Amino acid sequence: MRAVRIDQHGGPEVLTVREIPDPVPAPGEVLIRAAASSLNPVDWKTRARDVGPDLPATLGWDLSGTVVTANDAPFHPGDQVIAMSAQIATGRGTWSELVALPAHLITHAPTTIPLTDAAALPLAGVTAVQALDKTGVTRDSRLLVIGATGAVGGIAVQLARHTGATIDALVSRPAHIAEARELGATHATHTLTDLCPATYDAVLDTVGLDAGHLLTPGGRYVSIADEPLPDVPGALKSYVQENAAHLAHLTTLIDKNELHLRIATRHPLDEIRTAHEKFEAGGVLGKILLTF
Ligand SMILES: NC(=O)c1ccc[n+]([C@@H]2O[C@H](COP(=O)([O-])OP(=O)(O)OC[C@H]3O[C@@H](n4cnc5c(N)ncnc54)[C@H](OP(=O)(O)O)[C@@H]3O)[C@@H](O)[C@H]2O)c1
Repeated sequence: MRAVRIDQHGGPEVLTVREIPDPVPAPGEVLIRAAASSLNPVDWKTRARDVGPDLPATLGWDLSGTVVTANDAPFHPGDQVIAMSAQIATGRGTWSELVALPAHLITHAPTTIPLTDAAALPLAGVTAVQALDKTGVTRDSRLLVIGATGAVGGIAVQLARHTGATIDALVSRPAHIAEARELGATHATHTLTDLCPATYDAVLDTVGLDAGHLLTPGGRYVSIADEPLPDVPGALKSYVQENAAHLAHLTTLIDKNELHLRIATRHPLDEIRTAHEKFEAGGVLGKILLTF
């Protein structure tokens, strides 16, 4: 089978598509033929920096595909499924034509969108669910999402809208303001200084800004970014955990047309370097998919 591998850390040129042996699923694992994956920031960071599993390694966290075999698992050949694989910790990358994963990481794919598009969901979606939960927002809350048109931010805004909370959005550039409003933000800006101090019950920061002054006293600051937290009481980082129940919840929302996945571009495996360059250049609205 073909897979995207790195032998060393570096720029997009270290990404190679090559033949490697098919994985052999262990008991309790499911062998999946990949339909698509997507690019997440962790992928280029793992490519560029000396982090993650020993090399050579296959990259990729997101997966949509079709079950080939399922050993002792509640899935059947032909089932369409999605999964998130914590590649940086486990070394099990999803950018390969066949992927073997433990059954407890997998859930059935949404039925109302193409299987390839479902690969936009896992990492960004589960991250959004878990981070938003830590903000404690309710229908009476006022929430600021920083990076609101990014992959995680865009899902978080949509999920927060369902709570009835009032959501404001900070985006990177004026061209993204309309999209933030379409996602459900009441007020959207690309300028931090447009936002009033001491206004928000919660801030969900996907960028890593120093924006603690925007919180009301006692408000919650939750960040998923690499940058240090602002100096506000109780500020915390949220680190995504594999969770098929959260994935299944998101899948239900998609099938009820209550969560919309945004796709920017689709690239076949051979275009992996181009896909990385496009992603790292920034400014992309929607996920960049890798198709098999
Ligand atoms: N802790 C965890 O478990 C976890 C899980 C998932 C992701 N993450 C991290 O969270 C971050 C976001 O992930 P993602 O998948 O949502 O990435 P993404 O899709 O690239 O989204 C990031 C968004 O932030 C915007 N942005 C950049 N600088 C900004 C600024 N100064 N003000 C407002 N918006 C700004 C970007 O706009 P432009 O593209 O125009 O620059 C982009 O829309 C990444 O650093 C990722 O590694 C952490």
